Amino acid sequence: MIIIEKIADLQAYIKEKNVTSVGFVPTMGALHSGHISLVERCVKENDLCVVSVFVNPTQFNDKQDLERYPRTPKEDCDMLQAAGCDIAFMPTVTEMYPTEDTRQFHFGALETVMEGKYRPGHFNGVAQIVSKLFDAVQPQKAYFGEKDFQQVAIIREMVKQLNYPIEIIACPIIREESGLARSSRNTLLTEEQRKKAALIAQVLTKSTTFAQNNTVAQTIAWVNEQFAHDDTFAMDYYEIVDGNTLQPISQWEQTDFVVGCIAVYCGKIRLIDNIHYKG
Ligand code: PAJ
Repeated sequence: MIIIEKIADLQAYIKEKNVTSVGFVPTMGALHSGHISLVERCVKENDLCVVSVFVNPTQFNDKQDLERYPRTPKEDCDMLQAAGCDIAFMPTVTEMYPTEDTRQFHFGALETVMEGKYRPGHFNGVAQIVSKLFDAVQPQKAYFGEKDFQQVAIIREMVKQLNYPIEIIACPIIREESGLARSSRNTLLTEEQRKKAALIAQVLTKSTTFAQNNTVAQTIAWVNEQFAHDDTFAMDYYEIVDGNTLQPISQWEQTDFVVGCIAVYCGKIRLIDNIHYKG
């Protein structure tokens, strides 16, 4: 595996390899087995696997969250090498943003709900960096985790809007033994919070049973209720949406693809997860 910091070097190296398929996994580092599942799939399906490690400042609407974000470049490289990655692309902020990126993306109803509503500007920052990375790497396939369910929908829409000839592949959520969805932010939880955070996945799983005999509104209320009695948790939202449009539904029969999406604070750390009810 080679570590590259400059876009020009990355493009020269990929060109020299003269391969037919380049696969790409964008990450912000502090890698865990969730990221690695994407990398392994990318390695399997392409001649060359490129993984970027870049904590993108433009997608953080909370400065403290950016400062606090874990950075473990040495461990990241070891894990990427072990997973069979060919190129670790680790640019600096000035390499990716030589001047301010003033582009404004518009994703319509996809960005006015959930993460888009609670983290204003977040998806604009994601689109800015992912488009720059797509331009730099020019992959045939790019891999994203379903853990960030709304992000996948936004990226698919961006690919359409900008006519990128890139196939977007969504990969399943990898979980800790407790069920907690793996996240770089989990390392910021205290040991006790990390144990408690298992409740999130437990409640989502149980809610699929509850949903069989209850309405959408009742299911949302039930999920909220499960977090109401412990001050460790503070709910941002629980939404039950059409998995394609991301718009809230009111009847289970409304669509064949139904997903529940949660964002909840565990102490100071904001965690997200989701579950499929249908589809
Ligand atoms: P990051 O949070 O580092 O995640 C990188 C990729 O790994 C994303 O596609 C994310 O959905 C996936 N991922 C994270 N945890 C996962 C898990 N438990 N199971 C499966 N996949 C998981 O998402 C970002 O970075 C950034 O927004 C980025 C796309 C890199 C743009 O800066």
